[in-house]
Amino acid sequence: MPTQTTHSPGPLATSTCPALSGRGLVKRYGAQYALAGVDIDIQPGEAVAIVGPSGSGKTSLLHVLAGILPADSGEVLLGGTRIDHLGEAKRSELRRTEFGFVFQSGMLVAELSAEENAALPLLLAGVSRGKALADARQWLERLGLAGKGARRPGELSGGEAQRVAIARALAHQPSVIFADEPTGALDTRTGRDTMNALLGAAAENGAAVVIVTHDRDLAESVPRMVTIRDGRIASGVTAS
Ligand SMILES: Nc1ncnc2c1ncn2[C@@H]1O[C@H](COP(=O)(O)OP(=O)(O)OP(=O)(O)O)[C@@H](O)[C@H]1O
Ligand SMILES: [Mg+2]
Repeated sequence: MPTQTTHSPGPLATSTCPALSGRGLVKRYGAQYALAGVDIDIQPGEAVAIVGPSGSGKTSLLHVLAGILPADSGEVLLGGTRIDHLGEAKRSELRRTEFGFVFQSGMLVAELSAEENAALPLLLAGVSRGKALADARQWLERLGLAGKGARRPGELSGGEAQRVAIARALAHQPSVIFADEPTGALDTRTGRDTMNALLGAAAENGAAVVIVTHDRDLAESVPRMVTIRDGRIASGVTAS
């Protein structure tokens, strides 16, 4: 197991504030509203699926919440503190320390081994190489990849590569994990296994997880579902 806090809550889990909030979020591209006023609270350790038609604003919402994309108006709060108006250097630091990311097709570094890929956030955080690799190996084992740490991404199946991406997203014990169509490139069965691996690892670590998926069946395996249409939340604004 990774050394720090395997079963204890993430850094914000004891706070009474939501882990992450969006208030009145608006994002426009020309005349097109990608987000037309979104309010959302994500509680510490909560898992939320964001669903909705193509072009409804799911990725925009994820990127605005994660500080990747600036909103035109509205606020983003992490543990009750505004983060939307921070400069790029601070936002980038937050992304490295407080957030973890899983994308549709892994975005692993092709030249690095699975273990090195999973260790990247720890190395960026200044953890020694030996400890970062040892922790990464434990994350990979926990995600069912024991013995595959030395392989490069090209030597792994799609589902295995996504589990390396999940290990990388969790290794630095972030408070929120963002996943944009993490199972989009996988078959149904592998997609379900990958989703379960993501939800299980996030829950064990006390991390909140925000998962965009167009797959309703998969979304239904997530405790809370929020539907977006035309840049607005159509249902699921409060936890059920
Ligand atoms: N960089 C951009 N420039 C112009 N318009 C954009 C840009 N990014 C997104 N949009 C528009 O904003 C709207 C929301 O896009 P977004 O990517 O958030 O949708 P989505 O729900 O993630 O869709 P999908 O399910 O297809 O991934 C769409 O109408 C899209 O065309
Ligand atoms: Mg999208």
